[in-house]
Amino acid sequence: MPSAEQSAVEIRLEDYTPPDFLIDTVDLTFDLSPSQTHVRSQMKIHRNGVHDRALVLNGEHMTLLSVQVDGRALTENQYVLTETTLTIFDVPDQAHVVIENRIDPASNTALEGLYQSAGNFCTQCEPEGFRRITYFIDRPDVLSRYTVTLIAEADLYPILLSNGNPVAAEKCVDGKHMARWVDPHPKPSYLFALVAGNLTRITDEFVTQSGKTVELGIYVEAHNADRCDHAMASLKHAMRWDEQVYGREYDLDVFNIVAVDDFNMGAMENKGLNVFNSRYVLAKPDTATDGDYAGIESVVAHEYFHNWSGNRVTCRDWFQLSLKEGFTVFRDQEFSADMGSRAVKRIADVNLLRQVQFAEDAGPQAHPVQPKAYREINNFYTSTVYNKGAEVVRMLRNLLGADTFRQGTDLYFDRFDGQAVTIEDFVSCMAEVSDLDLAEFRQWYDVAGTPKLLVRDEYLEGQYILNIDQMVPESAKGHPYMLPFGFALFDEAGQPVLLDGKAEHILIVEQLSQSWTFSIEKNHADLLVPSLNRGFTAPVEVQYDYSDEALGVLSRADTDAFNRWDAFQRRIQRCLLGRIRMAMDVGSVGEDALPEDLSKAFGQLLLEAAQDPMFVAECIALPSENYLADQFDHDTPVEWIHHERARLRQQLAAEWESTLQLIYQSHDQDGVYRFESRAAGQRQLRRQVLSYLCSLKRSAWTQLAKEQFERADNMTESFNALVALNVSDSAEFEHVLTAFEARWRHDPLVMDKWFALQAQRSDENALARVQGLMEHPTFSIKNPNRVRALIGSFARINPLRFHDSSGSGYQWLADRIIELDAMNPQIAARMASVFNTWKRFDGNRAALMRAALKKIHDRPDCSADLAEITGKALG
Ligand code: PHE
Ligand code: ZN
Repeated sequence: MPSAEQSAVEIRLEDYTPPDFLIDTVDLTFDLSPSQTHVRSQMKIHRNGVHDRALVLNGEHMTLLSVQVDGRALTENQYVLTETTLTIFDVPDQAHVVIENRIDPASNTALEGLYQSAGNFCTQCEPEGFRRITYFIDRPDVLSRYTVTLIAEADLYPILLSNGNPVAAEKCVDGKHMARWVDPHPKPSYLFALVAGNLTRITDEFVTQSGKTVELGIYVEAHNADRCDHAMASLKHAMRWDEQVYGREYDLDVFNIVAVDDFNMGAMENKGLNVFNSRYVLAKPDTATDGDYAGIESVVAHEYFHNWSGNRVTCRDWFQLSLKEGFTVFRDQEFSADMGSRAVKRIADVNLLRQVQFAEDAGPQAHPVQPKAYREINNFYTSTVYNKGAEVVRMLRNLLGADTFRQGTDLYFDRFDGQAVTIEDFVSCMAEVSDLDLAEFRQWYDVAGTPKLLVRDEYLEGQYILNIDQMVPESAKGHPYMLPFGFALFDEAGQPVLLDGKAEHILIVEQLSQSWTFSIEKNHADLLVPSLNRGFTAPVEVQYDYSDEALGVLSRADTDAFNRWDAFQRRIQRCLLGRIRMAMDVGSVGEDALPEDLSKAFGQLLLEAAQDPMFVAECIALPSENYLADQFDHDTPVEWIHHERARLRQQLAAEWESTLQLIYQSHDQDGVYRFESRAAGQRQLRRQVLSYLCSLKRSAWTQLAKEQFERADNMTESFNALVALNVSDSAEFEHVLTAFEARWRHDPLVMDKWFALQAQRSDENALARVQGLMEHPTFSIKNPNRVRALIGSFARINPLRFHDSSGSGYQWLADRIIELDAMNPQIAARMASVFNTWKRFDGNRAALMRAALKKIHDRPDCSADLAEITGKALG
């Protein structure tokens, strides 16, 4: 694929101008065939405003066949065609434009536009894929009504789908058939979709709050028909929830989901026709883990929620991406919290934010939630836009309170229905329904970086004084953030201390330095422990000088479950970082004993396992090697992080061995697998506990894991046994891996787990093994899921071997990225971001990582996607 696009120009938010023309209706006819699909587009357009500029249409990677304006064929001097545009001169103010072109879906490996997956046709248009289908004004503020006619061979492609409602279906004479779809809702081109293929349909229906029946369909390959129940149930829950919580009802007669194997992202919210990566649809107990079930529930909901937050009200331009994504992630997070355990969901979301978004914000790709400039918009589907964007919406909810926030969202949906709007429009609705001045709040959208809050406190004669100083990122130029800050106080015994008579406060922090004085009843100055940023009300780093004892109080007694978890994690992290620094100084792994308070807190948590197994499982999970690495800004000690983390795990396991065994046994479940909060919690707890036990490398425990694998009737327990055995490094591991492969080698989604686990294994053979697995019959470098499972897991979750000081991991990855770039630039660009951290390593590694980046970057045919990432990383 030609990609002389290195030099892609920078697009800036400040340069936004409205479109020169609008497209009122578009009538598309597709005559589908793998390497020669014929597209005919009839558009009614009109000039937007008073000007005499030409009509410029976007179009790439296709062959133009003809252009007509108002029934007259244009000759070649009436238009100009370039590699990316079709410019038509002298177009009347209102015109009827007809364009015919040809495309080649079979050779489309970028998976943007119209492509084939498993022999079926499907599309991906967000953000700029529609211009690979036909010539169009491919920007989100051009909203049109679509009529789509699909023609294809009836036996090969019996299913023909597009957006909206089906209006016609007919047999044609030549073995072909046709179907026509009309979408009554004007939409931007990025929400267009079509699917044609040989698929099985699973049906159900949903009656909306106003009594309309919606036909629901999930389309999959025939052999997957028994794996759709969970996605269907999730969809119906999401539809009900959006009515109950946001008053949003579905607006078409049908809602369809199609699962495809080759997909760059998780899923896509095309109007009435969501297209999903099959990993977020397909599940049955013996092939999918609890994690997969949870992922499906949230992604199905996320895409459904976009019907309002994204589709009915859409984005004016791509700088507004977080308008739909931040809001919709917030909505799906709250949905999942309502379906399962709220506290555990919050812990998982914050964990992700800290591990991925905080790291992004501290590195060379840092950008505001509303970016101000980009070269390739595909590179801005980031954790900052999605996850930090969701935190910003969550802060608005917390500042306004749930009821006022709902008034704000009602106003927003009502006022902007059918329009393409901005983040500013959303925030002004929130300001309008509340008494809040949100002018300062805007900084959350405009400035990159994670603010730090330095907290100090003081107790003085019946008064408790809290001080908060903001350390803002450089680009904030000294301006303070506005944020809600959950706060409570506990005494030494873990009893809440009332502040001005209240157990909990949400403070509004809005100055660089601020203090609050509360009256408290305590008469003596014993240990007072503040619980800060409760529930993680704001996406900030909080610094407070906690003693080990104070962290012990919070991890035992805080009434906010999130902060209990956080306190225990802080304690573990403090221990680990201290040990890692010591190992760096001394040059060897430490020998010091387990700190008593930490061990005691661990034991206390184990006692609660019966009460809330999932919460305890989250608490005792050690921080990841990557998260620990992020705490170093130079000379990241890859080896010591790995070894000290393993040593702490062994020490805790040795100390609590018999309790761990007891917990393991008492949470054994009999009966059939169900994805349900408590049962999933028990399985997660058993996974953690078994991993601790297996780290002791005793045959009693590896046997136990092997038995779990052999007895398991569901993928969660079966795979968790593998995870634990991996920690043990024992001979059983090989045995079980082989058995797993023998059973699942024909099921690529299941094999992704197997690939990922082997890529993560930290033994010395890691790279050679990964290289070998690329030859496995189930592996294909063309499939993004396989690439993420094998190549991505090695680069991201195996720091010890990826960062081997020889540079072998870096060189190997650089070559794979170059190979990928020729096929799928988006995936190549995503893989390249592991090199972002090169400056945080020692001189040797930094130089090797930089060399890998340069090798990727300095190629004349480096894609625009990849070049933007590597260019920024090189700095
Ligand atoms: N809009 C999709 C989502 O968040 C993500 C996506 C972006 C999918 C670009 C494909 C391409 O829900
Ligand atoms: Zn989304």
